[in-house]
Amino acid sequence: MNEKLIEQEYSFLKDEIFLNVSSVVMPPLRVQNAYRNFMDDYVSNYGDDVVSKSWGIVNQTRKVVSQLIHCDSSEIGFVKNTCEGVSILAFGFPFEKGDNVIVIDQEHQANLFPWIHVHQQKGIDLHVVKSHDGNIFIEDIINQMDDHTRIVAISAIQFSTGFYMDLKELGNICHQKNILFMVDGIQALGRMHIDVQEMHIDYMASGTNKGLLGTLGAGFVYCSKKWIEKITPLYASYQSVINHVSPPAITTNFDFIEWHTDARRFESGNLSYNCILALQKGIELILELGIENIESKIISLEKYLRNKIKNVSLKVVEFKNEKNYGGIVCVYYPINYENSVKEVLKKYKIHCTMRGGYIRLGINFYNTFEQMEQVSKAIHEMDCLG
Ligand SMILES: Cc1ncc(COP(=O)(O)O)c(C=O)c1O
Repeated sequence: MNEKLIEQEYSFLKDEIFLNVSSVVMPPLRVQNAYRNFMDDYVSNYGDDVVSKSWGIVNQTRKVVSQLIHCDSSEIGFVKNTCEGVSILAFGFPFEKGDNVIVIDQEHQANLFPWIHVHQQKGIDLHVVKSHDGNIFIEDIINQMDDHTRIVAISAIQFSTGFYMDLKELGNICHQKNILFMVDGIQALGRMHIDVQEMHIDYMASGTNKGLLGTLGAGFVYCSKKWIEKITPLYASYQSVINHVSPPAITTNFDFIEWHTDARRFESGNLSYNCILALQKGIELILELGIENIESKIISLEKYLRNKIKNVSLKVVEFKNEKNYGGIVCVYYPINYENSVKEVLKKYKIHCTMRGGYIRLGINFYNTFEQMEQVSKAIHEMDCLG
């Protein structure tokens, strides 16, 4: 792992312990600069060529996304967030009466409400898999499959517990049964090694504002060539269709749409170019550091922390199998100690998610073993509250 590069990009964090990647991104210096420079260039050039230059940015970003997840750049389309990417699939999939989709009870709303919506609008059945104290068992998913199951929709890493699904095993099962395997990648991308081919992922949706090191305001979908032309896009505009005209020509055929045959068909008009540029720079850093190095550092830090806090009486969300570790540790505290827990976090300069009686610690490559020591001390202090 290139620690010098991490120091260059993240020295601005000083002695703060940032463990909130599961909620918000902490963009590296190069992303911050690119985001600011985008606006400076825009203004200093009076907006000249901004759109044509921006499509260059978009196409370069397609390439780095495809490099990261091992697909072809023609299989990447840009959207505004995860939910939009999931909705494109939910409303564009050629469902027939009696079809069903499998979802998990602990899913983030972005990968649940589009399915509830399509269930209500189109009468598609939802098969809901129950999780067990944070764990999701593949056998439970298989038990929900039948001849009418068309899609399994699941997060790579669950947002509320940190459970990392064995995507390869589940993808393989879906592949054998010709079920579309859809993954919400936002909690895993940029932190864990994801290979859509090896894992038989057919469709993936993700915002770019967590481990991908981009910013809020952009997302992407990956759709495998096998499925692209079977999914009818939600939006039709000049970016998604081939038969658009350029001024001074005007549209003369009002009965025909010829969709792009690649993932551009899922894009509508102008995109969040500045956010897509931020994503490009974020992924470039991830590729320079090496996703395997990143994943292995995160998992080592997670194991180290889990071991340090294994004897506390506070409830720590545990997984039966280490392969389900995804660099997120959740610890419950008594809700009436909320203010005291906040004080402890402040004392140790820990930034993490705190909601509904638990803290969620999202680990990334810029964290260190010394920081895990501090976090362990903080959790032991929380353990003594009351
Ligand atoms: C698993 C998961 N999916 C989706 C999202 C966000 O959805 P969206 O990008 O639509 O805001 C989050 C977190 O914010 C998440 O943890």
